Amino acid sequence: MDNRPIGFFDSGLGGLTCIAPLMRSLPNERIIYFGDTARTPYGSKSPDTIKNFAREICDFLLHQDVKMIVIACNTVTATCLRDLQARFPQIPIMGVIQPAANKICADCDETSQIGIIGTKVTIKSKSYEALIHQKRPELQVHGLACPAFVPLIEEGIIENEIMDLTIRHYMDNFIRYYKIDTLVLGCTHYPLIRDNIRRIYPDLRIVNPSEEVVHRIHQVLENEDLFADQRSGDHTFYASDLSENFVNMINRIFELTEFRVAFKNFDLPTV
Ligand code: DGL
Repeated sequence: MDNRPIGFFDSGLGGLTCIAPLMRSLPNERIIYFGDTARTPYGSKSPDTIKNFAREICDFLLHQDVKMIVIACNTVTATCLRDLQARFPQIPIMGVIQPAANKICADCDETSQIGIIGTKVTIKSKSYEALIHQKRPELQVHGLACPAFVPLIEEGIIENEIMDLTIRHYMDNFIRYYKIDTLVLGCTHYPLIRDNIRRIYPDLRIVNPSEEVVHRIHQVLENEDLFADQRSGDHTFYASDLSENFVNMINRIFELTEFRVAFKNFDLPTV
């Protein structure tokens, strides 16, 4: 048993989508979340910059005495999961791509046309293809970068025409050309526009890796004997730029009554 919190981080508010199913299934676990809202988006930045940001955040979370870290960001996972695991060997650190790849391998067959949407960095890394093809080399996987989605979601531009037009702008030709039938949300922000995608392309099967991520968190807690037997305090959500939208989004996703929001910027003292 271990009642210390689980640390999560993302470039912004996208990683919150992995936490909602975790809270439902493991109510004893306390969460410390860090959203790097001052420096989002990561998905078009260089690997060295992303690595430096991620190291700073892991260091910060370790100082909050977390028992494990979940990289709730595909871009960071694709860029530096191994680097972070080697640098902070004292606790388990997991990413979001392997659990998603496992699900795709389990659920798809060779007739499936699988589309992965994500940031430029994630798509360019070909991490999904590599992990899927390790197990199922016959599967047909196509990647598409959609770099405007994250800034729009961070701005709360979701349920409107601008988002729908942006989705069509990126995805219409891709879906038609490759005859995509299975779409993987390869960015933790994208579950927030899943309803838009479902409405525009009703025949697509949409894979949201968040549930697989939660399944993997269960396994790690079990293997390492880290389950909490009681909640050790309120969930805390740190942001490097504490915007109204960040707080609104926490309310919208979780409908929580007890949580703490705090500011942490690496260049400024914490207030
Ligand atoms: N949620 C991050 C991901 O899963 C978004 C990265 C970004 O900031 O562009 O990749």
